[in-house]
Amino acid sequence: MAQLTIPASLLPADGRFGSGPSRVRAAQVQALSQSPLLGTSHRAAPVKSLVGTIRAGLAELFSLPAGYEVLLGVGGASAFWDAAAAGLVEHRSQNLSFGSFGGKFAAACRAPWLATPDIRTADPGSRIDPEPVEGVDVYAWPQNETSTGVMAPVRRVVADPGALTVIDATSAAGGLPVQAAEFDVYYFSPQKNFGADGGLWVAAVSPAAIERIERIAAGDRYIPSFLSLKQALDNSRKNQTLNTPAIATLVLLQEQIAWMLEHGGLPWAAQRTTASSALLYEWADRHASVAPFVQDPANRSSVVVTLELLRGLQEDTITRILTENGIVNTGSYRKLGRNQLRIGTFASVSPEDVASLIACLDYVFERV
Ligand SMILES: Cc1ncc(COP(=O)(O)O)c(C=O)c1O
Repeated sequence: MAQLTIPASLLPADGRFGSGPSRVRAAQVQALSQSPLLGTSHRAAPVKSLVGTIRAGLAELFSLPAGYEVLLGVGGASAFWDAAAAGLVEHRSQNLSFGSFGGKFAAACRAPWLATPDIRTADPGSRIDPEPVEGVDVYAWPQNETSTGVMAPVRRVVADPGALTVIDATSAAGGLPVQAAEFDVYYFSPQKNFGADGGLWVAAVSPAAIERIERIAAGDRYIPSFLSLKQALDNSRKNQTLNTPAIATLVLLQEQIAWMLEHGGLPWAAQRTTASSALLYEWADRHASVAPFVQDPANRSSVVVTLELLRGLQEDTITRILTENGIVNTGSYRKLGRNQLRIGTFASVSPEDVASLIACLDYVFERV
């Protein structure tokens, strides 16, 4: 098919709608270009001070109660899964798996030194709740399943007060509301709502999680240094990471935290992602050619919107046209295998740009 040119007047100011890595605001890039820290030592005072500001900023953003700490390490959330299997799960985890990412943590918990995890699965597009089970000491699930666009409540398993609640917040943190009293570990990579680059993991941890980390580390389990949460704890308390981090990621992250705090913190960011995603869901509910993939409105993510294409519309055709017009990364999660669009409505994406995207989609749908 010949190229379809979307009128410039309909186009969003910024065409990046990916679900991660996702939009980096121009002000972040400007801060990066002016930062005196690039190319300087991560062990010297200026970078350590930046790490300290990030840790304090996140404690403020998430309203962390006294005793909670912010840890960080190199390797992203994927490295954190292995670190958690090595140093946070004592005997057995319960993992909720309703998409790719919850499933990956479940796989990491199949470590030979742990009991077989209790994996509770639900079909993509739906979700499942945790259930108290004797002998489980970690309950784990993603707050936002990036692969399917399902969000889940963060609530402790009250019937099991000794167990830790460990939340994958990679695509949720900074874009969905959360109460720190409801989690022990809230971990994420910063390349979604925080508009940074990948390669880092960050975790807000409760006193109970710190106690667990220290107790397992003091035992006789072999834990490689790179995966040691005790090493991460000790280094984070000195505002550093075990090994060299990407300083650019730290600068971008700090810039985004400051931007969120300036505008009203997490409630403001969550309200913005809710407004952006609602535009898409309401449009899809009205439209004959597209429908929300997630059936239960309560489970529809405010930060990753998945929409099924109907009436013969094909994802590859639509995404090709959008890409040719500068609107990128709107394709479905590659392993889900659905004919759908997946649109990131993270904090950096303005509701105005989402409204423009909808106008562009209407324009394209009428012409293919
Ligand atoms: C919910 C969730 N968890 C974990 C990850 C893995 O993050 P990373 O690639 O930074 O290790 C992702 C990546 O997209 C994700 O969306």
